Amino acid sequence: MTPPASAAQPLTLVAPGPLAGTIAVPGDKSISHRALMLASLAVGESRVSGLLEGEDVLATAAALRAMGAGIEKAADGSWHIHGVGVGSLMPPQAALDMGNSGTSTRLLMGLIASHPITATFVGDASLSRRPMGRVIEPLSAIGASITASPGNRLPLMLRGLAPALPTRYRLPVASAQVKSALLLAGLNIQGTTTVIEPTPTRDHSERMLAGFGAKLTTEKDSDGARIIHLTGWAELQPQMLQVPGDPSSAAFPAVAATLVEGSDILIEGVGMNPTRDGLFRVLTMMGASIDRINPRTVGGEPVADLRVRFAPLTGIEVPPEIAPAMIDEYPILFVAAALASGQTTMRGLEELRVKESDRIAVMATGLKACGVSVTELPDGLIVQGSGGQKLPGGATIAAHLDHRIAMSFAILSLVARAPVTVDDRAPISTSFPAFLQLMQALGSAELMA
Ligand code: S3P
Repeated sequence: MTPPASAAQPLTLVAPGPLAGTIAVPGDKSISHRALMLASLAVGESRVSGLLEGEDVLATAAALRAMGAGIEKAADGSWHIHGVGVGSLMPPQAALDMGNSGTSTRLLMGLIASHPITATFVGDASLSRRPMGRVIEPLSAIGASITASPGNRLPLMLRGLAPALPTRYRLPVASAQVKSALLLAGLNIQGTTTVIEPTPTRDHSERMLAGFGAKLTTEKDSDGARIIHLTGWAELQPQMLQVPGDPSSAAFPAVAATLVEGSDILIEGVGMNPTRDGLFRVLTMMGASIDRINPRTVGGEPVADLRVRFAPLTGIEVPPEIAPAMIDEYPILFVAAALASGQTTMRGLEELRVKESDRIAVMATGLKACGVSVTELPDGLIVQGSGGQKLPGGATIAAHLDHRIAMSFAILSLVARAPVTVDDRAPISTSFPAFLQLMQALGSAELMA
């Protein structure tokens, strides 16, 4: 899925003037994965509109097809999914290629763990470095047997078990992927699977499982931990579903408009789930001008249009407890912090070290190369802001197969005195294939070498 290094296509963006206009960002990546998975387990045809057609989601679709689901794009742009029913996934004939996608890998491992089938998971160099022990441990406890590469990494082979055992599992890391893997496994387990999350993470799985008719309840314990119970075996009903726009994609044009003087943009239909909207809350605390217009519900999720206008930012201490609600947005927040007045401290971010790249180290190196003064901490970053002055820039940044690193430095280039080049734009297609087109629609321009 990843082109060879020799095919790398660099990207340099500049802003000849203020950003302006109205855009809609593509469908939410997390919700798109889940929609394909649950529809593949319902009996009958589901229809999904607004599905993200990024490489990560297409990897999930290919894997589900290989296990018997019918997944096709219709002429009107919606996706029609013929589910096989919980318990009826077929063994895939070849290894499942997960590309760059941790979400595909971890959620599908959960799905397969309670089916009587065996699957091999492979991925690109970035995914093959990421830890899978966090799902291997609880899925082994329900009876799956997993043979992984050294360090609990991909490639790995998973042999599911049916009937598998119900479990009660307290998440040791705040991870929606681990939570979702267990809940998906629980669909084909008789009895109650319970997941306890001390720190709430994105709740798309819970919302969508309930929407498809699974028996799911949540409660809070006295410490504020969320306790989620799912009762199997589940019978899922096919659904008509619309996927809201991805707040993690909207983050890039939103920060761009905040930083480029005179900008005023509208981003339509952005998911505003409180377990995902942390970046917009933090930017607002720093002085950003972000209005949530026309709040509504789409596909069981809160959604709004975002009007974002240029505003000077002030550095703050970002509360660490907000991290799960904006875990993918720290790279672009680091860029926003680089333009703020004063210092921004961001901590509690050890999870960033095991994303598509080590996002603390890679961002620290890239920001320094662009002339920003940063201090790297084991669990975060302290950024000294320029007080609104353009950054020196003039660097070429290695994207390290990480879409959010590539997009963050493409945005930084808009506010640099000398343009910044990202060495390879290809990773952007994993989550936001229309990034360049939409940034151009807002008035930024690609600088050709
Ligand atoms: C995701 C959960 C998060 C996030 C990832 C998508 C999901 O990962 O970083 O991009 O869809 O469940 P973790 O579960 O590792 O925090």
